[in-house]
Amino acid sequence: MIVFNARGRFHYKYSFGAIRCIHYLTHTQWFCPLTLLLLAFTMVFLLPHEILSFFRSFGGSIAPSNVKNAVTFYEDLHSVNGGTELQRKENYTNMVNTYYDVATAFYEYGWCQSFHFSSRLYNETFQESIKRHEHYVALHLGLKPGMKVLDLGCGIGGPMREIASFSGATVIGINNNESQIKRGIALNRQYGVPESCEFIKGDFMKIPVPDNSFDAAYNMESCCHAPDLVALYKEVYRVLKPGQCVAGYDWCMTKEYDPNDQYHNKVKDEIEFGNTLPTIRTTTEYIQAIKAAGFRVLMVEDFADKLNVHIPWYESLNPKRLSLDGFRRTWLARLIGRQLLKVLEFSGIAPKGSIEVNKFLERAGDGLYEGGRLKIFTPIFFYLAQKPHNENV
Ligand SMILES: C[S@@+](CC[C@H](N)C(=O)[O-])C[C@H]1O[C@@H](n2cnc3c(N)ncnc32)[C@H](O)[C@@H]1O
Repeated sequence: MIVFNARGRFHYKYSFGAIRCIHYLTHTQWFCPLTLLLLAFTMVFLLPHEILSFFRSFGGSIAPSNVKNAVTFYEDLHSVNGGTELQRKENYTNMVNTYYDVATAFYEYGWCQSFHFSSRLYNETFQESIKRHEHYVALHLGLKPGMKVLDLGCGIGGPMREIASFSGATVIGINNNESQIKRGIALNRQYGVPESCEFIKGDFMKIPVPDNSFDAAYNMESCCHAPDLVALYKEVYRVLKPGQCVAGYDWCMTKEYDPNDQYHNKVKDEIEFGNTLPTIRTTTEYIQAIKAAGFRVLMVEDFADKLNVHIPWYESLNPKRLSLDGFRRTWLARLIGRQLLKVLEFSGIAPKGSIEVNKFLERAGDGLYEGGRLKIFTPIFFYLAQKPHNENV
């Protein structure tokens, strides 16, 4: 190996030493859990400042001392713990905000800046497939410079930045989660898009803008959180100009789902629990809701069922997968992450409750994988719908 400078030489020697250490430890009978604990400790002490503040950000706008209680509040609302759909709908603002306060750092670590799924082609990386899904929406909406577009439930703005850069349109994201918006604003500055991308802090059930404000709207796997889908799409209808369209991907139970099958319902409950959903609508119910709000549905397509899909969306959650591309989503990364979190929570760096959050997110991943594998669930049900030019026709 060529070493160009002293710093490089140090890193080289250091990495070599670390590899020898790991090699030695992995060949002793104490490998698990002692080695992992040791590795986790070492990582904590070698972590740069930014990474430490990342761990401290677990909990979002919830005070660190309240994270554990917030997690209990969240868990108790779900069917797997005796909660009901009605309770989740009545408490949707608190439930969804609590979830994203505690889960966003984990999402960003494992998924990057766009918090949605994609099916992959063989020649694509995970991130390329995410972008392709975003471009697909922009193309079907015919986005171009001069248009003002609404991003419903925009997360930390990954899709917004990509779609604004790709299309030249101005994108305004609405999100009810304060800490995600703070993070999104910082990222907009970092990526140099603060002029073409903006955030509104608000509930998409009551969008704080006048009627007929937008030239298009899209949803990347967010409207599934709505307590009432017809009311949400009526609100989207109100803020779109006549003749303009809404498109997006969303989470649905497919035609393969049998509501009388106990195992199907168990998987559905797990997905709702791990992903803060009041319920999961079927594809038929979803389309009926859009129509009931007054839209003309122009196109529907389940991306999970597309013929040219080589790697299904749920493969990234396969508990047995081991790959260097997307290592953070493998079982090995999960194993290391669990040990690291124990150390971080024990040492007070991460708030109490972080381990519990990690557990329900792992359960979420398993539920999603099972739903995808059985083909009873899809998170990438695509639709394109138009507000009529003349509402009386
Ligand atoms: C799965 S994330 C997707 C985020 C984003 N679309 C993306 O793909 O990166 C769902 C988002 O919907 C937002 N959300 C859920 N319910 C909302 C509501 N009632 N009003 C506004 N935003 C909401 C959440 O805060 C979260 O940012």
